[in-house]
Parts: sequence; structure tokens; C-alpha cells
Amino acid sequence: MLIAGNWKMFKGPHEAGAFCRALRDTNLGEVEVAVCPPYASLATAVQALAGTEIGVFAQNCHWADEGAFTGEISPPMLRELGVYGAVIGHSERRQLFGETDEAVARRVEAALSHGLFVIACVGETEAEREAGEAEAVLRRQLSVLSADDNLVVAYEPVWAIGTGKTATPDIAQEAHAFVKSLLDVPVLYGGSVRPGNAGELCAERDIDGALVGGASLDLESFAEICRAASH
Ligand code: PGA
Repeated sequence: MLIAGNWKMFKGPHEAGAFCRALRDTNLGEVEVAVCPPYASLATAVQALAGTEIGVFAQNCHWADEGAFTGEISPPMLRELGVYGAVIGHSERRQLFGETDEAVARRVEAALSHGLFVIACVGETEAEREAGEAEAVLRRQLSVLSADDNLVVAYEPVWAIGTGKTATPDIAQEAHAFVKSLLDVPVLYGGSVRPGNAGELCAERDIDGALVGGASLDLESFAEICRAASH
């Protein structure tokens, strides 16, 4: 069971350091825990969590080792910082920054080849679900990925992200089983995970953890989610 907090564009170095130092002294239950700070706060988070089992993940990474790619960060740079892994293909990257399935595949492959652990995100929009296309979308997004010991998928229905509209455990379980039928890797659920729903979601057979956005920004709510998931 892995609970990863995706901070998105929140918490600069100062706030990230304070949060991570407090996280060290917090009861997080029996789950694996990761935080995904913005690039600017990665070094501070790595330092503050040194010597703990809590992993620090970047929120993306490029496929090239170096080059003329303004605004991008490479896998070797993340390794040098002591970062454990990267979230790749988040729906905000896909929707707001034009990330394609092919670009996601290249990023995932490069990150894995450099020894980073990868959380690759997939998920359908509300319109796609209503049109009965959810499975076709997942099939397309997953078709570019190959199973790897250091890869997990996060199923994040776009209609549930930041909306307070969580998928029911039944809907999530069904989607997770479908994802696993196509790619044999652990699958995290993401989309409005809160202390009040984390337990029932993580109790489903094919839900292997959660990628938590908004509710991961507050220490107590993140810790409560971790503890709820460990039951
Ligand atoms: P949310 O975001 O928990 O705020 O819905 C989840 C995510 O985008 O990973």
C-alpha cells in the first residue's frame, strides 16, 4: 500500500522543509509514504526526509539526459538530487500542457532506465465516461506502457480530481481491475481522496494505494489518510 501526496504547485522550499520535518515525527500507520513537491522544493524535501522511509518524487521528468529543452528537468538531475521517483502523465500535464501518450511513454521509459520509480497516471474525463468510452481511453493510455518492477499506475478519473466527487469504491475497483487486466502492476487510486473515504477505497481488492492531491497539503489530513489506508 503506497500513499503519495501530490503537492502540485504548492509549498515552496521553506514550507516544504517544515512539512517534511513534521512528517518525520507523525504516525503514518503501516503504509509506504511518498511526497511529490514542486521542483523548487525537491532538494529541501530530500534533505528533511533523509534517513527515513518516506520517498520524494518529482511531478514530471524529461526523457533526455540533457539538452536544449527549456523548462524541463532530466532523470539524471533528479537522481543527483536524491529524488526516489517521478509522477508522469498527470491529467493536469495532459490537459493543460499538451502532454501526449507518446511523450508520457518516453518520459516513463527514460525515468525507469535511470533507476527512478514511476507513478504513471491514467484516467478518463467525465465526457468520456458518459459516452461509454472510459475503457477505450484507459486502453489507449496504457497501450504505450510496459510492466516494470519500478512502475505503478495511478487511476485518476479526471472528473474526480479536485472536485470533491470521488469515484465510489465500486467504480474505482472495476476500473482498477480493468487496468490490471491490461498491465500487471500495482494501481493507486486518485481523485478527491480524503481522510473519510481513504479507508473504504483502499480496502478494495485491486486498490493498492492512493495519489492524494488537495488533502495531502495538510499534515494531519495526510497522516489520517495514511493511517486509514493501513487498516
Ligand atoms: P485531488 O487530486 O486529491 O485534489 O483530487 C488528486 C491528483 O490530482 O493527484
